[in-house]
Amino acid sequence: MSDDYTALKGYNADADLGLGCGLPTQFAKIKKGDTVIDLGSGAGNDAFIARAETGESGKVIGIDFTPAMIDKARANVEKLGYNNVEFRQGDIEKMPVTANVADVIVSNCVLNLVPNKDAVIKEIYRVLKPGGHFSISDIVLEGTLPASIRQAAEMYAGCVSGAIQKQVYLELIKENGFVNMTIQKEKRFLCRTISWRTTCRGRN
Ligand SMILES: C[S@@+](CC[C@H](N)C(=O)[O-])C[C@H]1O[C@@H](n2cnc3c(N)ncnc32)[C@H](O)[C@@H]1O
Repeated sequence: MSDDYTALKGYNADADLGLGCGLPTQFAKIKKGDTVIDLGSGAGNDAFIARAETGESGKVIGIDFTPAMIDKARANVEKLGYNNVEFRQGDIEKMPVTANVADVIVSNCVLNLVPNKDAVIKEIYRVLKPGGHFSISDIVLEGTLPASIRQAAEMYAGCVSGAIQKQVYLELIKENGFVNMTIQKEKRFLCRTISWRTTCRGRN
């Protein structure tokens, strides 16, 4: 499900674990000097692309709750020698960030994994500056998943069974006070179970 990042400015192969499901920075309208927060930053793939856009005068904060991801991301920062990119360990349902700090929030394939998506949207609102915006790539559902997929641990970790209905997702965003929402790009996947094996593939 991940996009090809290799030609992007700021790309760092060590940060690209192929875990994304889109390219949120493509639509994030990041400007020089912006403060950007990347939710569920993994090894830093989107954070480093964002940093190429904020330049040295901006700042990028990645948040992830998996210590191994934070270690990888910090090792990447150290290798690159950036002093305006930092990774904080924490849960995006309760972000380790004070209010009104971010111009832009990006996130790639993370909210589907979070049990309380409403809490994350409320936190996005809290940490964005007034007039700030976000660009999120995520998995949503249209139709219901069979029980065999809903209950499969690998389908949860694979960003499928924790996803919620697209309309519910969009309503949550609106209910929390966001306006001017646009769906920039959609990719469709068809999931089906054949006997005991579940497969998901791109659909034309
Ligand atoms: C599918 S990976 C995507 C990583 C990264 N965005 C990328 O595209 O390479 C999901 C990431 O979200 C993190 N994550 C999941 N739930 C989280 C939560 N509640 N708070 C913070 N991070 C979370 C995981 O640790 C993992 O690094």
